[in-house]
Amino acid sequence: MMSRSQPTKTEILERIEVARKKLGSDLIVLAHFYQMDDIIQSADFIGDSLQLARAASKQKDAHYIVFCSVSFMAEMARIICSPEQIVFHPETKARCPLAEMANIDDVEKAWVALEKTGKRIIPVVYVNSNADLKAFCGKNEGLVCTSANAKKVMEHVFSRNAVPFFFPDENLGRNTAHTMGISDEEMFLWDPYETDGSRNGASMNNAMMFLWRGFCIVHTVILPSHVEAIRRQYKGIKVIVHPECTPDTVNVSDLAGSTSFIKNTVEKSAPGSSWAIGTEINFVNRIRKENPDKLIIPLLGSGCREMAKITPEKLLRVLEYLAEGRAVNPVLVDGTYTEHARLALKRMLEIK
Ligand code: 13P
Ligand code: SF4
Repeated sequence: MMSRSQPTKTEILERIEVARKKLGSDLIVLAHFYQMDDIIQSADFIGDSLQLARAASKQKDAHYIVFCSVSFMAEMARIICSPEQIVFHPETKARCPLAEMANIDDVEKAWVALEKTGKRIIPVVYVNSNADLKAFCGKNEGLVCTSANAKKVMEHVFSRNAVPFFFPDENLGRNTAHTMGISDEEMFLWDPYETDGSRNGASMNNAMMFLWRGFCIVHTVILPSHVEAIRRQYKGIKVIVHPECTPDTVNVSDLAGSTSFIKNTVEKSAPGSSWAIGTEINFVNRIRKENPDKLIIPLLGSGCREMAKITPEKLLRVLEYLAEGRAVNPVLVDGTYTEHARLALKRMLEIK
């Protein structure tokens, strides 16, 4: 257990290592790329949300899975892992605001209206969502997607002669649709704050994709003007952004893609190349440190304060209690959602 005097950061990190060693192969610590460096160095596996979903699904030996990220990812691991395994979230208050922008009552209300179009519609929920929405998709032939596989998941829906209803991130939906040749006129934006779901009375009949009014504050503050300013300052610099940025920002950038896409693209680029990156700042700073042969500039210093709620102190607390055989912050998912939410995640993981 933690002593009463304030331990230094070095002491905390050392104690994390002691607890990890004690727990051995019983424990696996998973961390999202946006976590702070002190957490990253204490993790066994680091990845984007899709890589973490796959990593969680492959944990057969570890009894304890400690998930360093926002709550929907820890919840996702709880749903995917076997009931004998225990998943822990070091800070249950670390919750993605985007995931809170759609709730089950509003989604069900939209579903009733959308079904009246007579179209075959398949719901697709962004992984940034709570378990009840994943379960809704599982129940209605739908599935989950992440920013790394959104296009493949949409193609899967179209291959089944259906129209996707994607929630809650409008920007990821719109950016993905654009890469598939779908224009804004062919998308219908469902606005949960409007009684009929539409601010301008647009028609649902011609829609090739239904979207939801939701956004990520960390990415939507990255503007076209930031891209233009960087290009003026660094001639020839390449701009790469996450697809949670608005289409306006994506359209003036060179490339857009998931966290792992950004990482791989920069790593594979020639030494001496220069990149401006538009996504979460912890991650951009780390790419910069890991690629000293390249010039790497953040488009904006935009950090995810929810991801930052996971601190070494909170990770230590979970691990030291666990080493004493006590469970702190185990993740629980309402059993009424587990089966269908797992189905929606399984359908996603089956798409290669
Ligand atoms: P990735 O799927 O790229 O890991 O992104 C998750 C996220 O929350 C981005 O804001
Ligand atoms: Fe949610 Fe945005 Fe933070 Fe990702 S960066 S966890 S979408 S608030």
